Amino acid sequence: MGIPHYISCRVHNFFLHEDTRAVCFSSMVKMVTVYAACALLCFAPLLVVSDPPVLTQPEQVHLSYPGVPGSMVVTWTTFNRTDSLVEYSPWGDILFHKSAKGSVTPFVDSGNEKRKMFIHRVTLSDLKPGSHYVYHCGSDMGWSDMFWFRPIDETIIQPAFALYGDLGNENPQSLARLQKETQLGILDAILHIGDFAYDMHEDNARVGDEFMRQIQSIAAYVPYMTCPGNHESAYNFSNYRNRFSMPGRTESLWYSWNIGPIHIISLSTEVYFYLEFGQELLFRQYDWLKQDLEVKNRAARPWIITMGHRPMYCSDDDQDDCTTFDSFVGRNDTTPAAPGLEDLFYLHGVDVELWAHEHTYERLWPVYGDKVFNGSVAEPYTNPKAPVHIITGSAGCKEKTDRFNPNPKDWSAFRSTDYGYTHMQVVNHTHLYLGQVSDDQAGKTIDSIWIIKDKHGYDAWF
Ligand SMILES: [Fe+2]
Repeated sequence: MGIPHYISCRVHNFFLHEDTRAVCFSSMVKMVTVYAACALLCFAPLLVVSDPPVLTQPEQVHLSYPGVPGSMVVTWTTFNRTDSLVEYSPWGDILFHKSAKGSVTPFVDSGNEKRKMFIHRVTLSDLKPGSHYVYHCGSDMGWSDMFWFRPIDETIIQPAFALYGDLGNENPQSLARLQKETQLGILDAILHIGDFAYDMHEDNARVGDEFMRQIQSIAAYVPYMTCPGNHESAYNFSNYRNRFSMPGRTESLWYSWNIGPIHIISLSTEVYFYLEFGQELLFRQYDWLKQDLEVKNRAARPWIITMGHRPMYCSDDDQDDCTTFDSFVGRNDTTPAAPGLEDLFYLHGVDVELWAHEHTYERLWPVYGDKVFNGSVAEPYTNPKAPVHIITGSAGCKEKTDRFNPNPKDWSAFRSTDYGYTHMQVVNHTHLYLGQVSDDQAGKTIDSIWIIKDKHGYDAWF
């Protein structure tokens, strides 16, 4: 058998006479045409039945801690239905040799376009604390970039956090600094205390998509723990409830989790305001809070820290919150009257209460019942006789910052209208650090305190 004509032509083509080259070329064209036709016939059925990868690219990737040691939830969005897979591996191992499958939930925004998206959730388990993991998420229809994270270690001794509220996708002043801190690996978790995007439902939820894309730069690397704010209220908080994946079965409205010596409780202050979405939510949350606070192992986790969007105390000059309408901790126009949170938290010895909503930073002296209960004149935060409140809602959004009332009450200790966010680190069972980072002042810490407690719980107040 001789060499096939087209191959011999290909080998010798360069040396052949012009007429001979023309014959060879014609022969090759025929051969290629025959092969192409065969290939088309062979693969035609596959081309017809397989879905083209349209709108299947994962985006808006973010992490959350489900409250189970050694676990992490990866959440992301596609705009067409796909499988929900995470491929991952410990840093330094063969890449992606582990995989986990999750579930996908369709979410239809309630705006007039009724835009549909698919929210994917995959829980990774058996993660080793102290290791770093690399991962990507998606499916064979499209994979995300590769990210990394460090699993939450519930036994970590000195957990460190960034916390803030009121971050929008326009004017997100704090985002660049948070991105850098995330990449430096100095944060164990980020706490976003309500009010996202401004607002997630706007432009038929495209603003929500854009915001979630923006925070992927931090939220794909550290657990991004949230609570709802008033800016999430549209369509009964549906964008918030569908896009986040907090622990428990409350669609991220209220939950608690542990990290090191801290028990963190996240709650919805909005159940006191939006009664049209169910007055019973207010009472359900209160009952849950009571139960959660009563069963704590205070010896192992002495620090109890709450986070909720609208503060109990504040001194912004908006003639509304904290002034004319102070029912956020218990309104009396429901039947029965809504129970308040201040007494509940005081009776269970909550150490620190984190709030946002006001687009400023305000640190309070230890306060209860509108009265100051400092530890001592010289050291107000050493063995304080009431919870310490921090309001940190100046991360940056299109509504800019707020003004302060020029005549704050006695409990107001420090105020700033700079954009920024708060650092928090628990050092041991007795010492907790809080510091306010100013974006206006190039990352300078403009306020800091140490809360020092020899005792925790209700008895610590006396
Ligand atoms: Fe707010």
